[in-house]
Amino acid sequence: MNDRVEAADEARRNFLKTGLGAGAVVAGAAVMSGSANAAPLQAASIGRSGLKQPPLPWKDSALEPVISAKTIELHYGKHHAGYFNTLAGLVKDTPLADASLEEIILATADDDARKSLFNNAGQAWNHNFYWNSLTPEKTAPGGRLLEAINRDFGSVDALKAELAKTTIAQFGSGWGWLVSDGGKLKVMSTSNADVPFTKGMKPLLTVDVWEHAYYVDWQNRRPDHVQAVVKDHLDWGFAGRNFSA
Ligand SMILES: [Fe+2]
Repeated sequence: MNDRVEAADEARRNFLKTGLGAGAVVAGAAVMSGSANAAPLQAASIGRSGLKQPPLPWKDSALEPVISAKTIELHYGKHHAGYFNTLAGLVKDTPLADASLEEIILATADDDARKSLFNNAGQAWNHNFYWNSLTPEKTAPGGRLLEAINRDFGSVDALKAELAKTTIAQFGSGWGWLVSDGGKLKVMSTSNADVPFTKGMKPLLTVDVWEHAYYVDWQNRRPDHVQAVVKDHLDWGFAGRNFSA
């Protein structure tokens, strides 16, 4: 076993150990239904995300005015769909054709020879997770997640401030994340298509700060966009289910 395969296997073990296979992959639940009318994701019980783009969990205008229907039309309908379409072409007639998104990501992480596979699978997965991190409803952390937030950040407001600050500060394209590192909550950012679970972190929430996520509505005002999303549109129920899974 070479180092790369060994590293991928180690990441896979961490992935399963952290429960991500049963939790954060909730973002792929609707993939399995294959129906444009599938119910929004509820249960944290799906372990494999399919290679078809799942439906959005809300109407494309649901997050206005923070995220417009026009942005969703482009972001979901063009960018996210494009990652799935490109991925389908890359895995066609290969041993990965029947793999899950998570398996492709873990198999190709840090593999320069398969960077395109990793990037498209990572972006497909990250956006699945992103749509489910957002909600038009007013939500708040509760239960075990709230206890952990108070323990690790002092308060929900302190966590939100830290998440916004870290996300805004991501240099170039990438993602801000709330993750669980073996039960301890952390805020982090990743570049481009990178995914926290390849490092053994369990994602709980994410905010997209690729320019396509906000430029139509906010132009260069990334800080205003991120603060508005963190203030009003994060789905803390989704985060709590991921944390408990
Ligand atoms: Fe995006």
